[in-house]
Formats: sequence, C-alpha cells, structure tokens
Amino acid sequence: MDRNLAVNLARVTEAAALASARMLGRGDKNKADQLAVDAMRRMFDTIDIDGEVVIGEGEMDEAPMLYIGEHIGTPREGNPKVDIAVDPLDGTLAVAHGLANAIAVVAVAPRGCLLNAPDMYMEKLAVGPKAKGAIDIKASVKVNIENVAKALEKDPSDITVIILDRERHRKMINEIRETGARLKFIYDGDVLGAISTCFEEAGVDILMGSGGAPEGVLAAAALKCLGGEFQGILLPEDEVQRERCIRMGVELDKVYLTDDLVKGDEIAFSATGVSYGELLEGVKYLDNNRATTETLILRAETGTVRFMKAVHQLDKKPEYAK
Ligand code: FBP
Repeated sequence: MDRNLAVNLARVTEAAALASARMLGRGDKNKADQLAVDAMRRMFDTIDIDGEVVIGEGEMDEAPMLYIGEHIGTPREGNPKVDIAVDPLDGTLAVAHGLANAIAVVAVAPRGCLLNAPDMYMEKLAVGPKAKGAIDIKASVKVNIENVAKALEKDPSDITVIILDRERHRKMINEIRETGARLKFIYDGDVLGAISTCFEEAGVDILMGSGGAPEGVLAAAALKCLGGEFQGILLPEDEVQRERCIRMGVELDKVYLTDDLVKGDEIAFSATGVSYGELLEGVKYLDNNRATTETLILRAETGTVRFMKAVHQLDKKPEYAK
C-alpha cells in the first residue's frame, strides 16, 4: 500500500475534527457527529483509493453517508482496493458536553482485511507492546492483572486499568479494586483508551470492559501498528443481534485476536483530537481565524508513529467557518 496514504488519511481526520470541534460543549451531539461525517466524506473524495466502508455510520438505510458497503474514492486502475473503518467522531457526547478525549478516527487496510463488526457491544482487553502475550480475555481480572504486572515488572498495585465509567462495569471494577490495581475512568472514547496503553507517558497499562465492537476494530488496527495486543468477544444482547452476527459472518463466543480483527500488516491509521486530551490535543482556535490540530498517524508495515501538528488558515477553508 502506498505509504503516503497514511498521511492523506490525516487530512480526512483533520477535516472531521475541524468541523465537529465547533460544537464543543454546545449540547448537540447529533450535529457534532453530522459535521464530522460530512467533512470526512468530502475529504475522502480527494484520495486515490478504491475503498469500501466496512465499519461506518450504520447500514445504508440508517445513514446517508459513510454507511457500511458504501464505495469511496475511484475504482481507477492503480488505485488500491481497500477496506475502510471510520468513526468520524468517537466521543459524540464528550464533544456535546465539552469533555475530554473525543477523536476523529480512520483505519484502512487491503480489501478483506478488516472485520466487518456489527454495531453491538464487545468485551475488550488491550495492552501495549511490553505486555503483549500476557493477556487472556477468558481468564479472570485478577489473573490478567497479575500477568500484565509480571510482564511490566511492576507490582499489581502499580498497574493502572483504564475503563469506561459505566454501570455495567460495576462487578469488574470491584474485581479490579480487589487486586490493588488503580483505575482510570473515561466517560467516552475507548479507541483512545486502548491506544493509551501503548504510550508510557499516558500512565495506563490495560484497557478492560465492554464498548462498541466497531470501535474495537479501530482500536485493534491502531494497536497492531503500535505493537500492542487487543482481544475481543462480541456481546449480542438479543436474538436480533445474534442473527445480525450470523448474517454478517461473525462468530459468537469467539475470542477475536488482533490478527482476526485486522489481517496482515498493510494497515494505515489516523486519529485527530477533537476535544482536549492527554495523548492528543484537541482543536484550538487562534487569532486571525486560524486553528490547530494534532494527529496520530500510524503504519503497521514500518511501525512508524507520527504526531503531526497543523495550523489551518480557516479563511482559506470556508467549509470550517463558524
Ligand atoms: P460514539 O461517540 O461513536 O457514539 O462512541 C463513544 C463510545 O464511548 C465509544 O468509544 C465506546 O466504544 C462506546 O461509546 C461505548 O458505548 P456506551 O456509551 O453505550 O457504553
């Protein structure tokens, strides 16, 4: 895959971030999401790919744009046939409520390499490179924390688990507390939560708990590039969701490993901060109608990790006007 694709993807996530960041704290999550979707879709049209959305804004009848199965780019000879996974705004509520860590995120891989994950919950377990091989989603919370602690040469009480602050996680939170480990709660955005385990400066060691399955594939794509490990199990909640899994060809009760979710190493990934965050700065507005973005760009083939800051002259980009 063309190595410049990853940098071009940064334009896609920057566009979504610049458009949706205007809605920070303004209480309208749907508008924030819609602005991100529209901007992302427009920018995709400028990229030389023959793409198909495998993770998007829902099925064709649920979403006008970036729906699953939508073709993006141009099927011209020479343009790579790729799978595209998008979450134009991971953290719609975070943006609406003016909270941290919302991102615009995209992953691209050759056709057939990204799992077409149904929109339902997934049990997730993720760690950074040093703890790769030390986790087992079927094992208890205690065993996982002890094994990760061993791999990281730390005491279990020095392990920090990042987890979505949700009522459904109460039992797991108690089990984590019993091991003596610390907890970092996030209110939204477990893609960035999983990515944080790969950056020592983020100060988190394991992501635990359930979140969206599509976000699981995006997180797995990033962790593959970063050398971490992701495991997931789909959690259908009723017969309709179970049938959906069967229709989409995904297996119930299967432990999906990083390589099952994201095959091969021709992976390109980009995430741009929308609201303020620890790993990625959110969009900031400067004088003279300028704005800054920060983007994390990853490629699995080379393992290069790029943080790209950009200053945008909004006068020259009227689509991001107030
Ligand atoms: P969206 O903003 O894309 O809706 O997702 C935010 C998010 O926090 C994800 O990062 C996470 O996987 C999922 O929602 C968790 O779902 P729930 O809010 O239902 O617990």
